[in-house]
Parts: sequence; structure tokens; C-alpha cells
Amino acid sequence: MELSNGVITAAYIVAALLFIFSLAGLSKQETAQEGNNFGIAGMAIALLATILDPRVDNVWVIVVTMAVGATIGFRLAKKVEMTEMPELVAILHSFVGLAAVFVGYNSYYEAHDSASLLPLTDMQQIEMNIHLVEVFLGVFIGAVTFTGSVVAFGKLRGIINSAALMLPHRHKMNLGAGVVSFALMISFVNQGGSDSALLVMTLIALVFGWHLVASIGGADMPVVVSMLNSYSGWAAAAAGFMLSNDLLIVTGALVGSSGAILSYIMCKAMNRSFISVIAGGFGTKVSVDTDKDYGEHVEVQAEQVAEMLSNAKSVIITPGYGMAVAQAQYPVYEMTQKLKEKGVEVRFGIHPVAGRLPGHMNVLLAEAKVPYDIVLGMEEINDDFPETDVVLVIGANDTVNPAASEDPGSPIAGMPVLEVWNAKQVVVFKRSMNTGYAGVQNPLFFKENTGMLFGDAKASVENISKAL
Ligand code: TAP
Repeated sequence: MELSNGVITAAYIVAALLFIFSLAGLSKQETAQEGNNFGIAGMAIALLATILDPRVDNVWVIVVTMAVGATIGFRLAKKVEMTEMPELVAILHSFVGLAAVFVGYNSYYEAHDSASLLPLTDMQQIEMNIHLVEVFLGVFIGAVTFTGSVVAFGKLRGIINSAALMLPHRHKMNLGAGVVSFALMISFVNQGGSDSALLVMTLIALVFGWHLVASIGGADMPVVVSMLNSYSGWAAAAAGFMLSNDLLIVTGALVGSSGAILSYIMCKAMNRSFISVIAGGFGTKVSVDTDKDYGEHVEVQAEQVAEMLSNAKSVIITPGYGMAVAQAQYPVYEMTQKLKEKGVEVRFGIHPVAGRLPGHMNVLLAEAKVPYDIVLGMEEINDDFPETDVVLVIGANDTVNPAASEDPGSPIAGMPVLEVWNAKQVVVFKRSMNTGYAGVQNPLFFKENTGMLFGDAKASVENISKAL
């Protein structure tokens, strides 16, 4: 069965609209599932329309390749842990980048071969030049995305050292790579295409992508992944131009711009400058000021915490990365229900960058079926801490660090945080006195109204539930 051009265009428009609905749906927890379904439907329509396009031959090759890819993808996605999600996303971006490079080379050789047979009219020459620019940019963005994503994957996996690579003159080298690539593009277009210019640029772009991400420290990796998401979108859009495929252009632009907006929001939530993150070298691990005397911390036991909670009227839980590691969301919700039965008001306060990816905590709590109306954002809940009896900080650290607002010299100074210390009592669930992701000490642990409950968060919550 083959579709007419009109039907294909209509299918592409429907798919593009579904992708936009999907993004709109994904922006709210209540509609996220719906958004996901819109995305799946849009992608299914897009794939079908493309396969049934009369210009496509060897449909079976595509179907078999897709089946192999889908099987691998399905198995990987099924077994990946929530905490490994950024790695999976990073490696998937590398595929988009590599695909854009292949599409670029293929489309260059196709156009070049047919153009070399005939003399071109002026109009055709202009079109050819535009096509060459598309090819050049597509390959450039694709190659940067490819190696950048491979390095991001390696750093997140721990295969590559997560510390920032600080080569001397690194900014000059990056600038040099950009200038040389631009000069190569001019020569590439002026010559009506040049194999050597394209090849040299590809090599430069591969090294550039590698270096760009290698020079960003581990702490900024989630921002980098979201930025590579944006690059992969632009690489797909460039491939869409080369293939004259409108849907690919629209989809690429949606991914490109939403990735860029997400990176910006993450930087804002961490009070980091977007430029300094992507320019690299600012995400280095900070060493802890071990000489500073923060005083003594007080340890508490699960039974004491259960007692505290039973006597409380209002409780706020602020989860962080440790809750994800411990997979404590299910027992946390069970404990919440027990407290509710006792007439205690329990709510959750979510920091925008708690965990390791945007919406990390929201996803975990939704997984455990915590009702959305008791899950509040940082801005919605920050003023309520002074009237709160007990705050349970479950596996969070940097996102509840008072140094961010009290110590201008702190590496996280200026980052908005959950002001849990204003509550009457605070209990911090963690395994040791180790620092959080930013590598800075947390004065909250030494405050008079703070008790430390050591141990794996899941076990601690279960012990409290038992005592309740
Ligand atoms: P973190 O500051 O990373 O602290 C997590 C805490 O969990 C650690 O102090 C750790 O202490 C504890 N922990 C680990 N495993 C545990 C377990 N099994 N049981 C109990 N506790 C456990 O967490 P956060 O407050 O969520 O902050 C997130 C950090 O990531 C921020 O620095 C943020 O800037 C950064 N970041 C996030 C994002 C996004 S988008 N979410 C993006 C970029 C950067 P112990 O080792 O002592 O147990």
C-alpha cells in the first residue's frame, strides 16, 4: 500500500500537532500520561506515513531494521533504573547525532553526483548553495552531538572521569575550532562541495564535541544532557532540511527549543549562568572546607521520630536523590497514609533540581501513587515551614542547605533552597555525614532543631512505620 502525497502531508500535520499536544500534556503531572500517549500516537503516524511514502523503496529493510532497533530499545528501557535515565537519554542523543552525520554525507554525495552531470542555472546554483550549507551545518551539529553525548554517557556511567578536563587555553581552542569550521564552510560552498573540507570539518567537530563535554564537571551533567537534547533536536531539524522532510524539521525544532528552555530553567533553579555551564570548566567538584567547625550533630532513632510525628499536626517531607537511590517512595507513601489516619497533615515539598533529572521526585512519588494535591513546588511551600511541626528530609542535601542563602562564599550561594530549618523540628535521613552532589558541607545537620537519622532511607522509613 502506498499513500498519495496529499495524505502524507496531512499525516505529517496531524503528527506535528500530536507532538505539540504531547509537550503541553507533559508539562503537568496530571496530564503527563496523556501527553505520553499523544507522543506515541504522533510517532506511530509519522513512521507509518514515512514507510508508506511512494518514494521509499526497500520497505522491508526499514521494517526489519526498525524491529531490531525497537526490540533492543524496548529491552533496555524496561530494565533501566530511574537513576540511570540520564545515561540512557545521553546515549540515545548520540544516535541522533550520528544519524544526522550519515544523512548529511549521503545527501551531499547524492546531490553532488547529480549536479556534476549538468550545468546549473542561476536558480539551481542558489538552491545548491543552500543545500551545501544545510549539509555542512547538519554534519557539524550532528558530529558535536555524537561525541558530546558519548562523553556525557561515559561520565554518567563512571567510565570516564567526571571531573572537568581543564586543558590550557581551552576556550581559545573552542573558538579556534569554530572559526576554522566557518572558514571551511565558506570554502565548501564556494567550491560547490569539497570532500576534503567536509571531512576535515567532521573531524574538528568530533573533537570539539568531545572536548566541550569533557571540560564540564559532573555536577553540571544533567544540564549538559538537556543541552545535548537540544543539539540533537537541531541536528534532526538540519536532517529534515536536507531530506526536505517537513515533519522532521518541525519535530527537530520542537526538541531543539524545548531542550534549550529546559537547560535554561535548570540553570536558573541552580542559580548558574547558562553560558558558564556550556562554556565548560565551571562544574568542577568543590572541595569541602573541613577545617570549619560546624559544631555537633544530634542523632535520633526511628522510634523517637515516630513519636515526634504522632504528636505533630503538620508534617512536610522534602525528598532528594537519596530517596531515589533507596527506592523509598513506596514506604514513604505508606507512612504518609498512617499519619493521615492519625489526623496529621502531610505534604511534600519538591525542589526543582532535587534528584538527578528534572521532575525526578515527582515521577517517583507518582509511581508510588502519592496524590498530586499534596505534592507542592518549592515556591508554593517555602513560606509554610515556620508553621510546620516536623520536616522529614529524606535523602536530600544540597536542596535544603542553608549555606545557599546564609553564606555568600559558599559554592552554592544564591541557589534557592527549601527553608526547612524554619520548621520546629527537622529530621534528616541519610547514611553518613557525607556531602551531597555539590560536595559542600550542610550546616543544617548541626542546627539545634535538627536530628540525624542514619541508615538507608527505605529501612529508616519502614522502621518509623512499624513504630507508628
Ligand atoms: P544531594 O545533594 O545529591 O544529596 C543526596 C543525599 O542522599 C546525600 O547526602 C546522601 O547522603 C543521601 N543518600 C544517598 N543514598 C541514600 C540512601 N540509600 N539512603 C539515605 N540517604 C541516601 O540531593 P538533592 O538534595 O536531591 O540535590 C540534588 C543535587 O543534584 C543538587 O546539587 C542539584 O544541583 C544537582 N543537580 C540536579 C539536577 C536535577 S535536574 N535534578 C540537575 C543538575 C544538578 P549519604 O551518602 O550520607 O547517605
